[in-house]
Amino acid sequence: MVISFSCSATTTKLAWILALQLNLFMMIQVHGQSGFINIDCGWKNSSAYLDNALNMQYSFDGGFVEGGLNHEISPEFMVGAANDQQKTLRSFPDGSRNCYTLPSNSNTKYLLRAMFTYGNYDRLNKTGDGSLFLFGLHIGVNFWEAVNLSNSDPTTTVFKEVLTVASSNSLSVCLINFGSGIPFISSLELRPLRDTMYPFVNTSVSVSYFQRFRFGNITDPITRYPVDDYDRFWERWISTSYPFINLMNTTNNVGSLPGNNFNVPSAILQHASTVDANYSRFSINVASDYNRDAMSLQLLPIFHFTEINGSNPNRRFDINSAGEGLFPGFSPSRLRVDSMYKSGQFLQKGDALFTLSKTSSSSLPPLINALEVYSLVRMENLTTDSDDAKYMKEVKTHYNLAQTSWNGDPCSPREYSWEGLTCDYSKTNQNPRIVTINLSSSGLGGGFAISFMNMTSLENLDLSHNNLTGAIPDYQLKSLKVLDLSNNKLDGPIHDSILQRVQAGLLDLRLQGNPVCSNSKDAYCSVKKRNSTPTLLIAVVVPLVLISLLVGMCILWKFYWKGKSGDREDYAMYEEETPLHVDIRRFTYAELKHITNDFKTIVGKGGFGTVYYGTLENGEEVAVKVLMESSIAESKDFLPEVQTLSKVHHKNLVALKGYCQNKKCLALIYDFMSRGNLQQLIRGGDDYSLNWEQRLHIALDSAQGLEYLHESCTPSIVHRDVKTPNILLDKNLVGIISDFGLSRAFNDAHTHISTVAAGTLGYLDPEYHSTFQVTVKTDVYSFGIVLLEIITGQSPVVIEPPHTFHLPNWVRQKIAKGSIHDVVDKRLLGQYDASSVQSVVDLALNCVENTAIDRPTMTEVVSRLRVWLPVSSDKQSVSATPRRKESMDSEMRRQFHLLISGVGNEESSSFQSGYTSGTFSGTSDVIPLTGR
Ligand SMILES: *[C@@H]1O[C@H](CO)[C@@H](O)[C@H](O)[C@H]1NC(C)=O
Ligand SMILES: *[C@@H]1O[C@H](CO)[C@@H](O)[C@H](O)[C@H]1NC(C)=O
Ligand SMILES: *[C@@H]1O[C@H](CO)[C@@H](O)[C@H](O)[C@H]1NC(C)=O
Ligand SMILES: *[C@@H]1O[C@H](CO)[C@@H](O)[C@H](O)[C@H]1NC(C)=O
Ligand SMILES: *[C@@H]1O[C@H](CO)[C@@H](O)[C@H](O)[C@H]1NC(C)=O
Ligand SMILES: *[C@@H]1O[C@H](CO)[C@@H](O)[C@H](O)[C@H]1NC(C)=O
Repeated sequence: MVISFSCSATTTKLAWILALQLNLFMMIQVHGQSGFINIDCGWKNSSAYLDNALNMQYSFDGGFVEGGLNHEISPEFMVGAANDQQKTLRSFPDGSRNCYTLPSNSNTKYLLRAMFTYGNYDRLNKTGDGSLFLFGLHIGVNFWEAVNLSNSDPTTTVFKEVLTVASSNSLSVCLINFGSGIPFISSLELRPLRDTMYPFVNTSVSVSYFQRFRFGNITDPITRYPVDDYDRFWERWISTSYPFINLMNTTNNVGSLPGNNFNVPSAILQHASTVDANYSRFSINVASDYNRDAMSLQLLPIFHFTEINGSNPNRRFDINSAGEGLFPGFSPSRLRVDSMYKSGQFLQKGDALFTLSKTSSSSLPPLINALEVYSLVRMENLTTDSDDAKYMKEVKTHYNLAQTSWNGDPCSPREYSWEGLTCDYSKTNQNPRIVTINLSSSGLGGGFAISFMNMTSLENLDLSHNNLTGAIPDYQLKSLKVLDLSNNKLDGPIHDSILQRVQAGLLDLRLQGNPVCSNSKDAYCSVKKRNSTPTLLIAVVVPLVLISLLVGMCILWKFYWKGKSGDREDYAMYEEETPLHVDIRRFTYAELKHITNDFKTIVGKGGFGTVYYGTLENGEEVAVKVLMESSIAESKDFLPEVQTLSKVHHKNLVALKGYCQNKKCLALIYDFMSRGNLQQLIRGGDDYSLNWEQRLHIALDSAQGLEYLHESCTPSIVHRDVKTPNILLDKNLVGIISDFGLSRAFNDAHTHISTVAAGTLGYLDPEYHSTFQVTVKTDVYSFGIVLLEIITGQSPVVIEPPHTFHLPNWVRQKIAKGSIHDVVDKRLLGQYDASSVQSVVDLALNCVENTAIDRPTMTEVVSRLRVWLPVSSDKQSVSATPRRKESMDSEMRRQFHLLISGVGNEESSSFQSGYTSGTFSGTSDVIPLTGR
């Protein structure tokens, strides 16, 4: 029999299995081994069978996996497969992740091996048609390795091994569909190891098999159980070319000292390879085969040496890896194994060329008995909180749910979390917790699953539109904020403990559409408007109508103004005293005219007026915002508002320097902000693009500014118009919030147009439409849109003709169809940490939840953003770019035109009304506001 075998260790033909089994057949010693689990995937018969060659029981995989389809390999290859496990397989055409769950003992070390033989089971010749055939493997919730079968012979058997520590009483292996071929598996084998073995393997580090060789004149291509108690696969090293010689052998037992952690069988150590005595060195190249790319891996070699020649030979050599000294001057001990490895030190360079060179004092050339090489598998992702996972699985069983994504761990890793669940990953080093369960319209019948009640971090449970029957449970879960049981068949009574929580505003209970509500008029029985109108429509139509209203008023006002006064010089005549004491400077109209050089340079236009560039007497640059509403000047609200604003000091809020107020002059004077606003910076079309860290910094800055308005001011100040044009950047790219507070003065003065100031196209809280109430959560919603803009570089309304998307929907769709990378701003050129982007996307989508109660507070937002930034990292200085003076970019114009169907007037000034191009600045430290 010709067996071609090279260093491509994991890729072998069925032929070797045949050879191996014939060999093992003659040396059967033990009937099975305690703790071994052998699974033949795709085996049709539910009873286990004895594999005579291995003398081991193999069971069918039904009890270990859900989903998947059984197959047999193509008949033409059956004959060649002497091994039953390779004859059948299970494939997973559905779902992106499918997991096998094997029983294990918590904190026990295991070797887990998976084998894959395609055998053209689908008759599609997938490994030979030139296309990519690749899928992934996870060990638990962490990526283990990819299985690459592209351009391989259909009879090829690939095996993968991992050494890992089970953290609980089960160990899962998942097959991941990469979209390049349907994942499948032929067999799974689990072998417990001793705790002391492979000491560098622990709960946070696993290792994947890269190569494992034995040396000497060996006939078996692979040595495994029962020679090796742990059933490791030791492959035969073949190098027949002179001067390599495989002559060394002994029949003496090779022992190991206590402290040797590898339990290499004596039978393996009794053989060794060396070179002809005229030579001084040899190299072992274990570089990858096509299945793995060594360069992308971090490798850990373990060398096993024992002197099996003569009585006391003088043999000493240096062991090097890619020119780097690993173990200098090593001398093997006689008939005793030395296992050489550097604990925990993985080689960064993966070219895996090891050289053994005789030292000058040595009389014999180097020798070697065995070599293992592993690659690092980081176990960085944590599994879902074990109680949450347990109760969630109970719920799944209770309702007999079979959602395709409900496979493996519920929350982790994030991209494979179960559909309908929201998890909290915000606490680093803590297991993710389940916070939202949405099982609306899932065909649930019967009673209420008691397991829900033990999920102590659950905040939002939606079981609406099902067929739940029976009584409403006495729900004691303190964390629960929303319990939606509407449109079921639930009966009363409702426990006092629930009613108390509802009355205290701690629980939002929805019961409409249940028999219990048939005679009740209680609030929880009334139908709440739950955003039946699409969010985009509300967000677009409402502000548009209102913006137009405001514009109309502004135009009217202009006519009025022209007719009445004609010249602004007149303003000076109207200076007058005010009764309120305001700490900031009061300017006269003449002064304003002087510092702005007769209102020469416009730096922005917005809903409240025009912004001019100015320079104070001391050379300080300022922005002068001339407000256009005369009635505000007359209103009693303006000055108290100015007084409030003058007391708000925070490094991320624009500082008010002065004001001007009389019958005809109404203006606010702020610090000038040299880098313009965030909208210009992310979509301005300048050459300069913010990097990911700068974006995160700006997001955090703005969040801190809003947090201060919400939490440190009494009463809280709601900004009402958070959007990228209102986030300004100083020369160090510190994000500063502008235009807060003003909206309130406007609102109070004009109740009939109060909504104008409470949001801008695309930023408006959908709940505002039904409640007309502005809360801090309104700002959180708008901030979520800002975050999405920062990530994607898109505007709040994405136009991809013929479709128009609201940004959150656009992001959700892109992610659902592809990956997180599809939404990230191309201007980042792929330079970002995917996990940090993922978290910020999660946070942003959390902020734009339809229901205010589901959104985080700004304090939570700040702490979740902070995780991704070093505490005091200085911002990179960036080269200056010219600031754009125009506030409207062409994209915005286009959007509005598309949205206002039939209205195509380029000149219309209405577009500008919703956008303020601020240019203010302020970087004073936090001065806490005291009781107002
Ligand atoms: C599979 O496809 C390859 C390439 O097209 C071809 O050479 C080979 O003969 C095919 N094998 C089978 C079994 O169809
Ligand atoms: C951990 O999870 C993140 C996010 O889901 C993923 O990008 C990353 O690859 C995972 N790490 C490992 C080692 O699997
Ligand atoms: C290898 O071992 C076989 C017996 O297993 C023996 O017949 C053969 O001569 C040996 N080869 C060498 C080169 O020593
Ligand atoms: C064992 O070594 C001797 C020489 O020491 C050699 O003649 C013999 O062929 C070797 N046997 C095997 C199985 O390699
Ligand atoms: C409730 O059950 C009935 C019949 O058993 C079925 O027709 C109906 O679709 C179910 N409703 C839901 C929401 O599952
Ligand atoms: C919930 O937890 C309590 C104690 O923690 C336990 O007694 C009860 O059996 C649990 N309920 C379920 C459904 O597991």
